[in-house]
Amino acid sequence: MPVPREEFLSPTWRDNIFTNKVLFCTGGAGTICSAQTRAFVALGGNACIIGRNVEKTERMAKDIATARPGSKVLGIGAVDVRDPKALASAAERCVKELGSLDFCIAGAAGNFLAPMAQISSNAFKSVMDIDALGSYNTAKACLPYLVESAKKYPNGSKPNASGTGGRIVFISATFHYTGKPLQAHVSAAKAAVDQIAHSIAIEYGPLGITSNVITPGPIANTEGMERLAKSDPESLELNKKGVPVGRWGEVREIADATVYLFAETGGYVNGHALVVDGGQWRVSGASMGGLPYPQAVTSGDVVSGVKTGKKAKL
Ligand code: COA
Repeated sequence: MPVPREEFLSPTWRDNIFTNKVLFCTGGAGTICSAQTRAFVALGGNACIIGRNVEKTERMAKDIATARPGSKVLGIGAVDVRDPKALASAAERCVKELGSLDFCIAGAAGNFLAPMAQISSNAFKSVMDIDALGSYNTAKACLPYLVESAKKYPNGSKPNASGTGGRIVFISATFHYTGKPLQAHVSAAKAAVDQIAHSIAIEYGPLGITSNVITPGPIANTEGMERLAKSDPESLELNKKGVPVGRWGEVREIADATVYLFAETGGYVNGHALVVDGGQWRVSGASMGGLPYPQAVTSGDVVSGVKTGKKAKL
């Protein structure tokens, strides 16, 4: 069933900015990456989504295609990002069937909540392999095509009438900025993902490529939030209050960030981690000695129990 456009894209963007362009997206059947792909398709592009599960991937490809009549969306299942050969074949098929590969989203990820004491070496390796090595494999499979696209659509100081191409975005997390219990494996993997993205920015920037990271914070209706809801419903409400903008994000807001980086708007953004989290990670130090956030700043009360507590003169 077609998803209403306002759920995956803000009205800010102009139609057809991605006409004749193709997006290759790993993890494309997931909640966040499918919204990113849907936005790209709605704005004129075609896409190829990659997943492990054949049925889920093909079904999602058909669903994404409803975003724009006449679009082509290919679902390639049975591809594990840990397998570089399978990814290279998928990229080759994408180009053969859709004509090019102009943009890439390395979005496939694996996660579970567990303390280090319960994570075996193999469990740690699984997440490193899917997130870090999988992102690396995705980039390696796509970069030759992205370089071709960047040649066709040079990233100059003036907007190119034929649009943009040769851009890659990685999906990361903020866990490694602050440290996060139960996420040692993912924190390590996402730190590596960020660095892979930044290395591409430096090494392939001279070839016309831009490489950036999008770091979603808590996003409503995603697998990660649903897991948290099941494991600890009370912490969900606390979690929401702890976001400076006072709510969880929407998948639309991640799709908007993607369009910003892929379109002319993002031409000079390279080697950046665009955090779309309502400011959440910055409040990791916001709770001070029992003063809860955000009440400590919103109540207007004088801070009590400290020698200097008084209202400032305006
Ligand atoms: N706690 C601790 N260890 C866990 C675990 C958990 N909750 N879940 C899996 N593992 C361990 C397994 O026990 C195994 O280790 P072992 O061989 O020492 O027993 C290791 O992780 C690999 O598990 P396996 O199921 O064989 O790996 P996989 O490659 O099929 O699965 C995972 C990868 C573990 C990341 C799995 O959670 C997954 O497939 N996730 C995909 C979907 C997903 O996570 N999406 C999240 C998006 S935010």
